[in-house]
Amino acid sequence: MNALTATNRNFRHAARILGLDTKLENSLLIPFREIKVECTIPKDDGTLVSYVGFRIQHDNARGPMKGGIRYHPEVDPDEVNALAQLMTWKTAVADIPYGGAKGGIGCNPMDLTVSELERLTRVFTQKIHDLIGTQRDVPAPDMGTNAQTMAWILDEYSKFHGHSPAVVTGKPIDLGGSLGREAATGLGVVYGTEALLAEYGKSVSDMTFVIQGFGNVGSWAAKNIFDRGGKVIAVSDITGAIKNSNGIDIRALMKHKEGGGTLKDFQGGDAMDPNDLLVHQCDVLIPCALGGVLNKDNAGDVKAKYIIEAANHPTDPEADEILSKKGVVILPDIYANAGGVTVSYFEWVQNIQGFMWDEDQVNRELNKYMTKAFGDIKAMCKTHNCSLRMGAFTLGVNRVARATLLRGWEA
Ligand SMILES: NC(=O)c1ccc[n+]([C@@H]2O[C@H](COP(=O)([O-])OP(=O)(O)OC[C@H]3O[C@@H](n4cnc5c(N)ncnc54)[C@H](O)[C@@H]3O)[C@@H](O)[C@H]2O)c1
Repeated sequence: MNALTATNRNFRHAARILGLDTKLENSLLIPFREIKVECTIPKDDGTLVSYVGFRIQHDNARGPMKGGIRYHPEVDPDEVNALAQLMTWKTAVADIPYGGAKGGIGCNPMDLTVSELERLTRVFTQKIHDLIGTQRDVPAPDMGTNAQTMAWILDEYSKFHGHSPAVVTGKPIDLGGSLGREAATGLGVVYGTEALLAEYGKSVSDMTFVIQGFGNVGSWAAKNIFDRGGKVIAVSDITGAIKNSNGIDIRALMKHKEGGGTLKDFQGGDAMDPNDLLVHQCDVLIPCALGGVLNKDNAGDVKAKYIIEAANHPTDPEADEILSKKGVVILPDIYANAGGVTVSYFEWVQNIQGFMWDEDQVNRELNKYMTKAFGDIKAMCKTHNCSLRMGAFTLGVNRVARATLLRGWEA
């Protein structure tokens, strides 16, 4: 089942639980606007090359649309549609005043030089500048894009609309980026985990953790777990996996990777088969890499008692069912990885205020939002006697439905 089918299914299920009117349900599902533009640039050697850029703006009932821009050769419109929709529910779950969007360019950024990437980003911005904006749609980095990409969008957009730092988030700090943004998704994952474990009278320091993916989200989640005394007993990335039943020294591993080392040549753990990682004995499993990694083939063998969905869509619906029957508690992606967009919201707020917060304030506010959202999800679970995933979906969908009804429709 692809990401769009799975997201639609969760949405339909939530709409039924909430008893939404069918017309409202269909209207919430259809994207507000789909933009597709041709982006032609001269390469450094003078030849012309064309790419297709797009932006799916899913919903803006609760505020400007928000979501990443990815540069990837196989940008799949269905997946981007699903991710735009997920952003709508995610921003509503976090209770930040945004809707949802997602976009990208079908290119391989590895095949382009820095100056070609800059030209491509500027052309794309020229084509969509009147459809994005501080109060319309606020892009952020995603796969294949980064703070520099946001800086080029900011600069190009500002040529048309005047200096507008709040038009993008995930910017370099020198251009109005927020302190704490880089670590925010991983830290938010840990705040969410703490809120979940507290329900069971447990804390991070009592638990063993297995983490798939050691990039931005995985490494910051691992570091914050390590700093709280939690034992990370196995981690993996694209190059391989390592384990250490006494706990991996995550700070040492981060230093090792920053120095150009790989997981495999790290001395603080033994190599293991990456295929065994997801079914390794542990208390908490945190997938931080790809979608669909937990499926009907491996779900039955998962030993973890808790799964924290730091990646988007790591658990497919068949696995969801198998794991739930086994009593595994799953903290769903639309809540678990909302720390990133929440600190993006703080960045936007700081830009609009023209005022910079210190990192402690950013992290304190992030903790407040994650803890409150968890409480709101639990309340929905209690009202509707449902899983955390459905608690999160009903919470998000209900907030967007209420805003839509209050605003009304054009005659
Ligand atoms: N970065 C954010 O703010 C953010 C926010 C919300 C959701 N997410 C989601 O979190 C996930 C990770 O994002 P990220 O920003 O950390 O990406 P990243 O590119 O920084 O890191 C991805 C990591 O996954 C590893 N990986 C790739 N394929 C793997 C495989 N087959 N087995 C094991 N590891 C593998 C990579 O080596 C890398 O360590 C994605 O699903 C993303 O959509 C990220």
